[in-house]
Amino acid sequence: MTKTIRFGMSIDERLLSRFDDLISDKGYANRSEAIRDLIRNTLVNDQWENNDEDTIGTVTLVYDHHIRELSDKLIDHQHTHYKHIISSMHVHMDHDHCLEVVVLKGKPSEIKKISDTLIGAKGVKHGKLVATTAGKEVY
Ligand code: NI
Repeated sequence: MTKTIRFGMSIDERLLSRFDDLISDKGYANRSEAIRDLIRNTLVNDQWENNDEDTIGTVTLVYDHHIRELSDKLIDHQHTHYKHIISSMHVHMDHDHCLEVVVLKGKPSEIKKISDTLIGAKGVKHGKLVATTAGKEVY
């Protein structure tokens, strides 16, 4: 456990007020926790942009399984990149729609490329990559 330090900062009153409203809506107990999360998020993003070490990402996909050959195409993509895909979960959302969550491991550039291919497949209605890391330097 590293030492915790306190620091002060200057900030525009209105900006701080808006920030306080936001973190209150999000359920933060205090500003310190909200600011720590912002800093961690920034560090994780930086690792993703500037690091070439293995990391983790999840891709969420929503698609209409009636679209011809889309399910097969998504499965083919995942088999092509099986070394980088740790796990996937499929949920039948309703009569028409499927939700798929794919967990990817690899270099940020590899994860982004696979994610772009999955999200960009014709017929995918919504897709999002969440970039994360176990980040020794972050936590
Ligand atoms: Ni389904």
